Amino acid sequence: MEIKKLGIVGCGLMGAGIAQVSADSGYETVVHEVDDEILAKGLNAIKHFLSRSVKKGTLTEERKTEVLGRIRGTTRLEDLQSSDLIVEAIVENLQAKTDLYRALDDIVGPDAIFASNTSSLCITQMAANTRRPARFVGLHFFNPVPRMKVVEIVATIMTEPEVLELVTGFARSLGKTPIRSADRPGFVVNRLLVPFLLDSIRALEEGVGTKEDIDTGMKLGCGHPMGPLELMDFVGLDTTFYIANIMYDEFREKRFAPPPLLRRMVMAGLLGRKSGKGFYDYA
Ligand code: 3HC
Repeated sequence: MEIKKLGIVGCGLMGAGIAQVSADSGYETVVHEVDDEILAKGLNAIKHFLSRSVKKGTLTEERKTEVLGRIRGTTRLEDLQSSDLIVEAIVENLQAKTDLYRALDDIVGPDAIFASNTSSLCITQMAANTRRPARFVGLHFFNPVPRMKVVEIVATIMTEPEVLELVTGFARSLGKTPIRSADRPGFVVNRLLVPFLLDSIRALEEGVGTKEDIDTGMKLGCGHPMGPLELMDFVGLDTTFYIANIMYDEFREKRFAPPPLLRRMVMAGLLGRKSGKGFYDYA
């Protein structure tokens, strides 16, 4: 089997980014969203970033047209029928994902591979709820997808070695560096990143430094592209809170427990860039 046709479910931040890189790497890509408005928003985001690259001179207008020509948006799941690989990047809700995989099981061929871009849900649990547990993996991209070079590949105890090889080859063909992770909450990167982000909030709460000093310290002291508080604004405070809770539920270790300030900022709707305000103001 060869992966030629790609189906992506979800055209939010992650789904749109995955569609962009797969089309850029030559794959015919069909991307699904639940309604026309959300789909148009996702496709426009892809156009926006490609146009930005044209303006910066890092992409030609012809290449942009070529990439966009390989992406087809749809609101009908049936249009994913001929996909060799389905990458799911919908809301982080186990029931929603389970329902989606059930529907896709009836639509796509039995050899097609299912890959979830979840950052925190259990791959084994999702795979076990499909009729193809051996052809199911986690495929976790990072934000912004076109820019971040690593992809985590998560096999379960049910995954066929051939599937793992095919998905690893696919990640490489996108110009990404694949790393493998066991099916544990947070995989490799969030397992290390999330306690660090949470600790930066604890340092802020304890008055160790101002938000600017904490961020500047990590940027200039450790060469991070963004400080931890800036990064949480970028990723979304709600997303960080959600992942931290899942990790804390599994490990019951203090370092994964969301600090009170994070909980309250989420309650207050201070979610970071997406809501216009988080640790910083984006108004
Ligand atoms: N979508 C698509 N493309 C984007 C983008 C986005 N949201 N943001 C930037 N880009 C593209 C730009 O179009 C540009 O492309 P070009 O080189 O072809 O012109 C390129 O990326 C660089 O853009 P900028 O000039 O704006 O880049 P900066 O130098 O300012 O860097 C950054 C921006 C890449 C976001 C950088 O600050 C960075 O690396 N930050 C850290 C990001 C990070 O840590 N991500 C991981 C988050 S954790 C995660 O995703 C896991 C999840 O489970 C929570």
